[in-house]
Amino acid sequence: MKILMVGGGGREHALAWKLNLSPQVQRIYLAPGNGGTAKQKDFDHIALTDKVALREWAQANHIDLTVVGPEAPLAAGIVDEFRHHGLRIFGPTQAAAQLESSKAFSKAFMLRHGIPTAEYQVFEDAAKAHAYVDAKGAPIVVKADGLAAGKGVVVAMSIEEAHAAIDHMLAKDAGVQHNQGVARVVIEEFVDGEEASFMVVAHGLTALPLATSQDHKRLLDADLGPNTGGMGAYSPAPVVTPEIHAKVMREVIQPTLKGMQQDGIPYSGFLYAGLMIGREGKLKVLEFNCRMGDPETQPIMMRLKSDLLELLWAATEADTETLAKIELQWDRRCALGVVMAAANYPSTPELGQEIHGLPTDTEEAMVFHAGTALRGGKVFTSGGRVLCVTALGDTVKQAQTHAYALADKLHFEGMQMRRDIGFRAVRR
Ligand code: AMP
Ligand code: GLY
Repeated sequence: MKILMVGGGGREHALAWKLNLSPQVQRIYLAPGNGGTAKQKDFDHIALTDKVALREWAQANHIDLTVVGPEAPLAAGIVDEFRHHGLRIFGPTQAAAQLESSKAFSKAFMLRHGIPTAEYQVFEDAAKAHAYVDAKGAPIVVKADGLAAGKGVVVAMSIEEAHAAIDHMLAKDAGVQHNQGVARVVIEEFVDGEEASFMVVAHGLTALPLATSQDHKRLLDADLGPNTGGMGAYSPAPVVTPEIHAKVMREVIQPTLKGMQQDGIPYSGFLYAGLMIGREGKLKVLEFNCRMGDPETQPIMMRLKSDLLELLWAATEADTETLAKIELQWDRRCALGVVMAAANYPSTPELGQEIHGLPTDTEEAMVFHAGTALRGGKVFTSGGRVLCVTALGDTVKQAQTHAYALADKLHFEGMQMRRDIGFRAVRR
């Protein structure tokens, strides 16, 4: 089979690597891929990004299945475009992707369907938003309604910070994709607890949970510094006990799929619930994503033993029975990934540095690429998050030791990485 993978981050490298292990896969085309996928001989690369151009290319090249990694093409309706022309594609439609692309939509959806989430209000008017913050006090959380590439959330510890976030997010040039051209903010209650990433492969009312994981969103050790796209992740996440797992399926995943069906926008694709798990296992959904997490995908894919193509094929069948019959097999070991980021990330990163010391990948340790480019046989940095060094180990501690041993051999000018990925699990 010929597969088209849309995207070029670490998540897409990990998904393409795993798909390529399927005996049924003949060739994988990445749009656009990165320096790591470019090094793989049986991968091809195409420079298209527009959904119509991609659809025409997929038709002309007889692609059997298209898999979409990032949220932006999903929010732009790539799935609708492909399906409309009879092409097989894995991911939610534009309407279903609103669970991620509009915080106002997803909060209203959760409220309507009784899915536990933080108390909130939506504002378009800055004065009203400021008055709400004054009335509620800090800590309080300000979120841009539209997609903001991971920069749309401010957890304000003081009301001054919250006021500044409102003014920034309601401004025209805030770097946010304003839905229907209108700037909106969601202001919500601060919730305390431990976070976990819970992802499923969904198709109608059927949900097949993937292994659990935990991301590290702050730039610096001990969860200090600014929010990033994610500086490292590991799987499984011990905070998701079997009881919590059952509760998430019962209180979050099943009602979400049922709610989407009832609202006339059935969900198909990866569904990611970002959870806050509080005292006594109290659950709240912080956000939905309509895709896999990055960097969570990297450790999750290293632990998946089942055939990924079979899974995604089943989730794109006309009926949902095939998916319901699949039982996923997982490596019992833990996997842990450490992100190496460019100097100055998450602000404007410094690019174009040569990367030295890249090891040979093995079944137990992989360096997934993200912001890299291959030029003349050498690999250079080309984005904020550059690499994710991912390794297996019998315990989180062993996976951590293994990943850092490899990471320490790698080098590029200005490289940033956290030294404590997995600390919550190690300390348990
Ligand atoms: P989101 O993109 O909504 O997941 O938010 C990014 C990060 O902000 C989350 O991973 C949390 O660390 C934090 N966050 C979001 N919402 C809340 C909340 N209501 N209370 C506390 N922290 C939050
Ligand atoms: N790592 C968090 C995300 O992918 O949204």
